[in-house]
Amino acid sequence: MIWDKVAGVYDSFENLLNGKVYKELGNRIAEYIDENDVVLECACGTGAISEAIAKKCHKLVATDLSSKMMKRAEEKCRVYGNTVFRKANMCALNCRDERFDKVVAGNVIHLLDDPASAVWEMLRVCKSGGKVIIPTYINKSDKTSKLLVKACEAAGVQFKHEFTLESYKEFFISLGMYKAEFFVIEGRMPCAVAVIEADGWFDSKTKELLENPPYVDGVWDTDKLYEYLVYINTYGDNLAKRYFKNHLSDPKLAEVLLREFSLNDVMDGSDAQLGAAVVLRMMDRDALRANKELVLEAQKNEVYWKRPRPEDDDMSWL
Ligand SMILES: C[S@@+](CC[C@H](N)C(=O)[O-])C[C@H]1O[C@@H](n2cnc3c(N)ncnc32)[C@H](O)[C@@H]1O
Repeated sequence: MIWDKVAGVYDSFENLLNGKVYKELGNRIAEYIDENDVVLECACGTGAISEAIAKKCHKLVATDLSSKMMKRAEEKCRVYGNTVFRKANMCALNCRDERFDKVVAGNVIHLLDDPASAVWEMLRVCKSGGKVIIPTYINKSDKTSKLLVKACEAAGVQFKHEFTLESYKEFFISLGMYKAEFFVIEGRMPCAVAVIEADGWFDSKTKELLENPPYVDGVWDTDKLYEYLVYINTYGDNLAKRYFKNHLSDPKLAEVLLREFSLNDVMDGSDAQLGAAVVLRMMDRDALRANKELVLEAQKNEVYWKRPRPEDDDMSWL
């Protein structure tokens, strides 16, 4: 991976080309950290932010996909004695809900294929009343040095999402995250910082749905299920992971999803039908086996959102 390759020169590159922002970053983020905080940092890299957090917090769990980047961070934080390092993908954290007081991820959102899933994960593991803090380089800002963008690209950095401050704000609003404040650290490549109030890990609509579940007294309510599935398709599958995790082996759920959504022409092309496919793909095989005929029938559908299994599944297990 590119980050293992550049680990040895990353700090020098940042200090030389974007030094003002790079030096200010950690301290500006640390302003949000309190001494009793247990903090998760995702994509900690070589520890530009980790060090400033470790200086202030009670405990820091710093994570990244690149062991070589993390090794640098580890050297910087060793002196504080309160930091552990773990390899972790921030889009799928192996961590219980509402575990941390603050969750931070610096300069990584623009590099991810699916930045929304990362933000949802960060909110999921942040305690209600905590904060999720996400600084991201905004390489489309008028003030950004075009030469610096080119230098990053030449070094192998791929900007999968290119933000201005405005489009960065819009990104969070599109996820329903209105309780956020923003500021910018100015420099050759400015960095926009989003500070999101974690309200549980969910927004008000998710909360409303969770308070009104589709399964009561052994019965799946199709209308309520419809609302869940529309939401799952629109805002990603975190609600699916949270709510349906205790029902993934229920053959009755598989049957309702198949009959009422995948195979129901009235639902054709609807968000609910796509949401049903998301949940069916998470379900245990035994629950699907119990509905073998329906699964096979739905799998014959021409379009993927009506099929309970991915295209490359040979279905021999069924
Ligand atoms: C531009 S560096 C930022 C490092 C540090 N946060 C900073 O601000 O200097 C991006 C980092 O994100 C990490 N990264 C990329 N995708 C990741 C993912 N899905 N989960 C965790 N870390 C990831 C890379 O390994 C790299 O260390």
